[in-house]
Amino acid sequence: MSERGELFDVEAGPDTLVLGIETSCDETAAALVMGGSDVVSSVVSSQIDLHVPYGGVVPEIASRAHLDLLNPVIARTIVEAGVDERRIDAVACTVGPGLIGALLVGVSAAKALAYTWQVPFVGVNHMEAHLYASFLEDPTLQLPMVVLLVSGGHTMLVEMRGHADYRLLGRTIDDAAGEAFDKVARFLDLGYPGGPAIDREALRGDPNAIDFPRAMLHAGLDFSFSGLKTAVVNHVRKHPDVSSADVAASFQTAVVDVLVAKTRRAVREVGATSMALGGGVAANSVLRERFAAAAATDGIQVFLPSREMCTDNAAMVASVGWYRLKRDGPTPLDAGANPNLRLFA
Ligand code: KG4
Ligand code: ZN
Repeated sequence: MSERGELFDVEAGPDTLVLGIETSCDETAAALVMGGSDVVSSVVSSQIDLHVPYGGVVPEIASRAHLDLLNPVIARTIVEAGVDERRIDAVACTVGPGLIGALLVGVSAAKALAYTWQVPFVGVNHMEAHLYASFLEDPTLQLPMVVLLVSGGHTMLVEMRGHADYRLLGRTIDDAAGEAFDKVARFLDLGYPGGPAIDREALRGDPNAIDFPRAMLHAGLDFSFSGLKTAVVNHVRKHPDVSSADVAASFQTAVVDVLVAKTRRAVREVGATSMALGGGVAANSVLRERFAAAAATDGIQVFLPSREMCTDNAAMVASVGWYRLKRDGPTPLDAGANPNLRLFA
């Protein structure tokens, strides 16, 4: 027990080994990360196949699958690392935002393991974990950095000034970018998950075929994507013979134009020295290309996390867990999961 009360505590140092657990949506993941940035092992079990027949994530199926998969995923993570479980110094787990039933599976397991091993439990915000994905792969990134966080549930521009020191610069006022990809893909019958399906379909299409709206392109740092989705639906209803590859390519370009233009403006406004991508949509091939090209033109350091680090994984959770443990100490074992947890008030 520590001076912090009824909590098991350790001083986070370069050798501190953190087990990360991630179950907020449809990926069951565990990872072991040393010293906040050295990924020793990382296992992600995707449930995509289970949700495909329903065209989206079914919360009850996700929770049940996490229950089945989590113990084997954690066991494999420990075996792949080649360590004894007694070597683990802390257990970090995503506590929100996400699907409540799915989150509870990870949080219950993390607390039980922390209690059994008598090590600290650290609750992690999933969006903060996405912010750290770039750092994990390139700890030399220069601050201040502007991060474009684009996932299924969120679209944000964040200024990162230091560890746990962020400022929200802009966010979507309606749909998230990933949500727009998923909805348009479903409308075009391209399947689930929508982002990768549109990315693939767009390869065969002309990005200049249809001039879809770029909402709020010249206004501030907030985003809006719901009008674009409606424009796609209206266009296809009016032109039923249109090539879906052209629609996918034109839609994708409209989204990427706005994402890149606003990131550049944010970098200029805050005088940032670097820019990075995070979240599932950061796996988009056109976004990655255009983001890197913009940074090169503007002379800004850029980092594109690997695709594995863009989508949900537990290495980014363990990394934040280490920094949070160092800064704030352990999370009480009676703290709950919060499906609506926010990174900014
Ligand atoms: O970060 P993530 O794995 O889960 C959330 O926290 O939401 O992001 C999932 C989102 C989905 O909307 C998915 O369609 C999108 O990321 N996505 C993509 C691509 N790969 C995944 N969107 C566009 N292009 C892609 N290649
Ligand atoms: Zn995510």
